[in-house]
Amino acid sequence: MILKNEFLEVEITEYGASVVSIKVPDRNGKMVDVVLGYDDLMSYKRQDKYIGATIGRCCNRIANGLININGQKYTLKCNEGKNHLHGGFHGFDKKFWQGTKGDNTVNFVYHSKDGEENYPGNLNVTLTYTLKKQALYINYKAVSDKDTVCNLTNHTYFNLNGGGDILDNEVLIFADYFTENDANSLTTGKILPVENTPMDFRKPKKIGDDINSDYYQIKYANGFDNNWVIKDYNGRIKKAARAFSKKTGIELTVQTNLPGIQFYSGNYLDGAGLGKNNIPIKKYSGFCLECQYFPNAFANKNFPLPVLHAGELYDKTIKYKFKII
Ligand code: BGC
Repeated sequence: MILKNEFLEVEITEYGASVVSIKVPDRNGKMVDVVLGYDDLMSYKRQDKYIGATIGRCCNRIANGLININGQKYTLKCNEGKNHLHGGFHGFDKKFWQGTKGDNTVNFVYHSKDGEENYPGNLNVTLTYTLKKQALYINYKAVSDKDTVCNLTNHTYFNLNGGGDILDNEVLIFADYFTENDANSLTTGKILPVENTPMDFRKPKKIGDDINSDYYQIKYANGFDNNWVIKDYNGRIKKAARAFSKKTGIELTVQTNLPGIQFYSGNYLDGAGLGKNNIPIKKYSGFCLECQYFPNAFANKNFPLPVLHAGELYDKTIKYKFKII
């Protein structure tokens, strides 16, 4: 399904309610596709990199799949060694969502059954993509009949050059702190200042500048792959990150009403196969800016819990806005 206006053209598919392409005019007016993806459904099914996909019920990792909701313990299915990653073996990224197209919207629904991947409660999710001027809004609404976990995100890989690697794309993250990971990419509970570390993106910095740093967080992940704590979070929509390509002049601003953002520099993209136009997708072909509750929150008492109580409305938004500079 295609959403189009005078600024942007966005293609979305029912498989994973995924973003397939976002075409933006560069500074010369030439349309540039700034996201990774494939030309056919089979390739989407084959990949295990979550390219463009909707992630749920809980994005990122949960150590040993263990969650505890009001004293009730559950063990979620563990699809990454000992951990639950991005919703389990058949997360929301692998479901066909029922989509309806409106003028400038695509509306998707998915009913996640009680016990799916061992999550409690029937969860009804409505996801709406809206194109408004230079922005794509993704709104997630969900209601469950039991207390459950809900932490949904979008796993689009951006490349603001429209091809090649992303090492010269500049990134700015509106965060003074990030959450520390252990060697298995699990948050430890420590919230560390970015100051005097290569994790400092308070001023725009090329992704490649520090990607080979000896800093332990970067070594653990073969690049950037942490959660940053969005500055002055108050539950309202705020700027979380910005990215820019000097080559095309395209700037992306990410806004959200979620408290965290995972900046992942595509470190494990090798093996993703042939992307659009048969061009191989490789390490550093794209980067993700995934708005989220802090990962592995059930293991860390100081993190806000992504618990959705029975009957309560989950209502979160991610906004990707483009501009030419
Ligand atoms: C995570 C990475 C993971 C990747 C899977 C990202 O959201 O932060 O650790 O390898 O998803 O493609």
